[in-house]
Amino acid sequence: MTEVQVLETIAEVRAALDGRRAEGQSVGFVPTMGFLHEGHRSLMSASVAANDVSIVSIFVNPLQFAPDEDLDAYPRDIAADSAMCSSAGVDYVFIPSVDEMYPMGHPIWTNIHVGTISEPLEGRHRPTHFDGVATVVSKLFSIVGACRAYFGEKDWQQLAIVRLLAFDLSMPVEVVGCPIIREDGGLAMSSRNVYLTDPEREQALVLNQALRHGIEMIEAGQRDPEMVVAAITTLIEAQPSAKVDYVAAVDAATLQVPEQLSGEVRVLTATRFGKARLLDNRGTTT
Ligand code: PAJ
Repeated sequence: MTEVQVLETIAEVRAALDGRRAEGQSVGFVPTMGFLHEGHRSLMSASVAANDVSIVSIFVNPLQFAPDEDLDAYPRDIAADSAMCSSAGVDYVFIPSVDEMYPMGHPIWTNIHVGTISEPLEGRHRPTHFDGVATVVSKLFSIVGACRAYFGEKDWQQLAIVRLLAFDLSMPVEVVGCPIIREDGGLAMSSRNVYLTDPEREQALVLNQALRHGIEMIEAGQRDPEMVVAAITTLIEAQPSAKVDYVAAVDAATLQVPEQLSGEVRVLTATRFGKARLLDNRGTTT
């Protein structure tokens, strides 16, 4: 196992990757906020398998946190993260300081807003979140340069936004979506799962079960999104700690609620259990 090389500046990233691309090598990129788990590892494995060089970024991006959110509490463990990058066969890990990314402070003058698709679901509950994501992802794509970039379906709306962003701005980036990695009980892996107490973690298993039930309803012929949403919500709310932010059954590409579910469909939820706000989703094709 070769040790991953740690890069801390934008100039170092450009120097390292431009050289490799000049030799005709392909670059795979996995943007993260660290506290890496098996979900992140699956993205790294996909990148390592398909590219000559792989780079992971670890940056807890203040732009995408609202003032009342968990920016300062966000879990961090750079030593464990570097070890996982090394064992996954990643070549470089880019760990910039906030000053390196935002030397004039933040917010910055430029704001990337991806219209319509950012508005429902997460956008409604975290109104500034996706502008922060789109802006930092644009910046990271500009730093890393031409690459394949790997994103998890766990953050379905984020993946859809990043795809549109790269397409609309003609970025030399091929966005690759990767399936959700779950714990044995079905809980979607997330850095924020550390906020769960044992009883909350047990109750959170309902998310995957309820979404699966919703998918089964659709696969059995239910086409009314409201009926699907009601059934999923009832199951989740049966757990005493669950506080549902939203449940939705939408068109998988546009994230709009259709009159009748058809084609590629996605059911999604954001639900709070104590201090943890958890996202999950599942999909099917009618
Ligand atoms: P973070 O939450 O660290 O996630 C980094 C990537 O890992 C995202 O693409 C996310 O969808 C993926 N991921 C997380 N859990 C997963 C799981 N259980 N299975 C599969 N993939 C999973 O998402 C962000 O960071 C940030 O918003 C970022 C894109 C880095 C911009 O700051």
